[in-house]
Amino acid sequence: MITVRVPAKVNVQLGVGGLRADGFHDLANVFFAVALGDRVTATAAAPGAGVTLTCAGPDADQVPLDESNLAARAARLLAAHHGVAADVHLHIDKSIPVAGGMAGGSADGAAALVACDALWDLATPQAVLLDLAAELGSDVPFALLGGVALGRGRGELLEELPVAGSFHWVFAVAEGGLSTPAVFRECDRLREEAGTGSGVDRVPTPDPSAALLAALAGGDPVALAAAVGNDLQAAALSLRPALADCLDAGLAAGALAALVSGSGPTCAFLAKDAAGAEAVAAALTASGTCRAAHATHGPVPGARVIAGAAPGAD
Ligand code: C5P
Repeated sequence: MITVRVPAKVNVQLGVGGLRADGFHDLANVFFAVALGDRVTATAAAPGAGVTLTCAGPDADQVPLDESNLAARAARLLAAHHGVAADVHLHIDKSIPVAGGMAGGSADGAAALVACDALWDLATPQAVLLDLAAELGSDVPFALLGGVALGRGRGELLEELPVAGSFHWVFAVAEGGLSTPAVFRECDRLREEAGTGSGVDRVPTPDPSAALLAALAGGDPVALAAAVGNDLQAAALSLRPALADCLDAGLAAGALAALVSGSGPTCAFLAKDAAGAEAVAAALTASGTCRAAHATHGPVPGARVIAGAAPGAD
């Protein structure tokens, strides 16, 4: 039995370029891994058992346990790559909001790759795991890597970024999720409505903000707060206008910055320090503008084995 811990992400910058012919958008995506995370446990199963899945946690009923689950797909993809049988039971301990814009499904996919790799004693090189992760989804490679990284292309071409110290965050969980493709479509629709166009021929390829990279490297939360930005925020607010009340409540409670996390609807708040984050979380919980609020910190590493040992290991 192998247990892997995997972080959620917030995008401190999500620059969205034009719609490509393949249906994706080019991104300048600065991923930031936070301590709020899931655990995935892989348990050896009898030959022919296939991949089975269970999930626990407050929102477990919203997690798909069918073929679409990224953890199950990850186990099958890794097994197929090595030509071994995909016989494993995966249990997901879910803390990351479901369909919340924090890459929770992607995190479970990355965790399953690492857990099955250890359980089946495959010693897959990290570069191969990253390629398999990119096949599973745009956000899966970052969940393997963790820390802070710039994602180009559709988000899968990663470059680690230097970061100093720890930053303190609060995440306000909304009632119900938002579909990532629906939010990208709304972003395109708003661009068409504004007359700026939505294709790669009309929208410039986004670049990372120099001020944002300097703030991360310098460990400066005030400078980071001034530089964060999410091009999907207008689209998420258009689909879910009530999120504006949550963002306002966090700012009124003293957050340095408030933004929608990825495609939403989770809202992210940067705080000055750990005590500031606790205060913002308490105020948000009391505000009634979200379902729950959690204080956390980052950056933290990507998917890592925390318990268990591979067969044959010392
Ligand atoms: O890669 P992933 O499966 O997570 O993407 C889900 C959907 O989000 C895509 O099918 C696409 O509609 C949208 N997307 C996008 N541009 C990206 C990443 C995702 O349009 N860079």
